[in-house]
Amino acid sequence: MSYKDLIFTSSYINGEWKQIGQKKFSVINPFNQKEIVQVDDGGAEAIKKAIDSAQSAFPKWRDLLAKERSEILEKWYDLIQQHKSEIATIMTLESGKPINESKGEVDYAASFAKWFAEEAKRVYGDIIPTHAHKKRIAVLKQPIGVVGAITPWNFPLAMITRKVSPALAAGCTVVIKPTKESPLCALLLAHLAQKAGFPAGVLNIAVGSNSKEMGKALCESPLVKKISFTGSTEVGKALMAQSSQTLKKMSLELGGNAPFIVFEDADVDLAVKGAIAAKFRNSGQTCVCVNRFLIHQDIYDQFSEKLLKEIQKLKMGNGLESENHIGPLINSKAVEKVKSLIQDAKEKGAKITYGGNSLEGNFFEPTLITNANSDMQFSNEEIFGPVAALYKFKSLEQALDMANDTIYGLAAYFYSKDINRCWKVSEELEYGMVGINTGLISTEVAPFGGIKASGMGREGSKYGIEEYLEIKYLCYGNIQ
Ligand code: SIN
Repeated sequence: MSYKDLIFTSSYINGEWKQIGQKKFSVINPFNQKEIVQVDDGGAEAIKKAIDSAQSAFPKWRDLLAKERSEILEKWYDLIQQHKSEIATIMTLESGKPINESKGEVDYAASFAKWFAEEAKRVYGDIIPTHAHKKRIAVLKQPIGVVGAITPWNFPLAMITRKVSPALAAGCTVVIKPTKESPLCALLLAHLAQKAGFPAGVLNIAVGSNSKEMGKALCESPLVKKISFTGSTEVGKALMAQSSQTLKKMSLELGGNAPFIVFEDADVDLAVKGAIAAKFRNSGQTCVCVNRFLIHQDIYDQFSEKLLKEIQKLKMGNGLESENHIGPLINSKAVEKVKSLIQDAKEKGAKITYGGNSLEGNFFEPTLITNANSDMQFSNEEIFGPVAALYKFKSLEQALDMANDTIYGLAAYFYSKDINRCWKVSEELEYGMVGINTGLISTEVAPFGGIKASGMGREGSKYGIEEYLEIKYLCYGNIQ
């Protein structure tokens, strides 16, 4: 089957492909800025119709056996895996992600469907030892209702399955609003959901170009009981404010400013390997990508030289060609942002050791910057590009102060061989996730999420399904 047979261009509502209105928007390939296809611009109207459909489907879906919901999720998992190659191609076309990473994302995305198919059957309640002789206490966990999922372009498939699989497993119905940059992966997931046997209205996708208007319609609807969003802190705050009148439960996976600390006793080769993985994945465009490399002064030169050698090996080009490690950034605005951060750093004394330039298309060279300091704008702002900036520290206390000196608290990484230090530093880092002697922390089995301005709630793992459940306490009286 060609990937072209799996391109869909309308909203998916109540089990059908629905054109809402006459407007269209273009999906653009970031590699050559050419239009891939035009998609229906459903806007807030599509969101409203999708919410109504999810609301009508909710009671029946909720009342299925957990085992029945689980079987449909398992089928969805199988279908995603079966179409890995076509999905990966579409992902690379609409996001620029290098094809090997796109294939990896298909596995990652599918793993959430599988994991939560299993977790669906383990939503246990409780019996609590009673406080009074004639009374008994039980606790039920029940699905929250209609869920709104607002998802980003940097993981166009996995951020959907990471939100939607636990919601569906719990017995909720969903309305998905993907970004205008990457609606094709989302719509393909809807097609596979239809084939897997999700009843009409259980999974809905509304596509459109006006994210503000569509997000507002989701947040302000009294029928939507929960919003799960991945994206910037600024937009997360706006969605939370819009949801306040209907008091929705929120999961927000927002911006980060990940430190990567290399202590003087670290295995430097291992740290360099981890640095490449944690910095250059998706060309630096993930929320958990390293933003600041904090390197002990005794090993600073050694680390920087070894990192430089590895960065020089990274090949940049069309994501569809499998030898390339670095694809284009998502659009010209993203390139301009990286350029301005580098200009600011240069003016404040940074040394561009390697790279530092934008190239035709939306490319930005893999870049190594030494002599970075906390006055530079990128020490407080997400770079979201392939730029590694190295800072120097003298003591553990200084490293921790530097690492925690940010409003963000998503992911942090550090390297040390000393087990006592590993415990202490892990406890002191103000982050939701900590990689110790590893640069890769993402997996369906662990709780993904942040603290501080990086948001709230956890995705994946046994904790992920709790976000979609309400607790009801039953008090039986007059037990004879
Ligand atoms: C993200 O960038 O939002 C997600 C990254 C991941 O799941 O590893």
